[in-house]
Amino acid sequence: MRILFVGDIVGKAGRQAVRTHLPNCISRWSVHLTIVNGENAADTGFGITRPIYDELLAAGADVITLGNHSWNRKEALQFIDECPRLVRPVNYLAGTPGKGALLIEVRNGRRALVINALGRLFMEPVEDPFGRIGAELDANPLVRAVEATIVDFHCEATGEKHAAGHFCDGRASLVVGTHTHTPSADDRILPGGTAFMTDVGMTGDYNSIVGMVREEPLRRFTTGIPSARFEPASGEATLCAVLVETDDRSGLALSIAPVRIGGCLKPALPSFADEKS
Ligand code: FE2
Repeated sequence: MRILFVGDIVGKAGRQAVRTHLPNCISRWSVHLTIVNGENAADTGFGITRPIYDELLAAGADVITLGNHSWNRKEALQFIDECPRLVRPVNYLAGTPGKGALLIEVRNGRRALVINALGRLFMEPVEDPFGRIGAELDANPLVRAVEATIVDFHCEATGEKHAAGHFCDGRASLVVGTHTHTPSADDRILPGGTAFMTDVGMTGDYNSIVGMVREEPLRRFTTGIPSARFEPASGEATLCAVLVETDDRSGLALSIAPVRIGGCLKPALPSFADEKS
């Protein structure tokens, strides 16, 4: 199974990059399952709206994951239960609307499990992500229940993301970090067969401070005084993603490669996908 995971889509610029590049990526690499992180996709750069959920599905996303900004657009608390492909962190408190894991049928008739979780270091308080992820993995084991499992670990701390990768190693097809908005260079397959990347990077304008227009964050760092709202940067975005190929017989990874298209980052394309197509 070929799985494409697109990193945090930031504002209008990020959505434009998704509309421009995602359909071609899906067809060129014969992708079976496309997951995007949409927690920054609103025009403000924080949260998601119902029209944007529809827009991302129309661009080719099969599943949309969230993160610490899930509820910045308050209407998401209402519409999430009407959006079957929207997944919020699994380790929110009991009673939170929506779902933290989604079992879906993929384009080729196989089954996949998508889990979204929040880290706890340098983040708002949430329940234990490891226990919640482990419960989902135990309930839906690779091979017996699903052909692939993908974990979006939305988290600030590198060490916690590494721990999530090793915690899931051999039990998930892909563990990918989101939230820090900068792609790491450590995409690889862990010893137990799980593809891993500490952070996939954002799909946004990198001529910015984590996707935001530079002036206000710079002012806050240099003076300590907030004086305006953060605004998403509007230059050409880089689509940042990771492409993984898995073995349907084991659910484990065969190949992983980063994807970077457009904007000001160095391009990266998954040569393994073109060679085998
Ligand atoms: Fe985030």
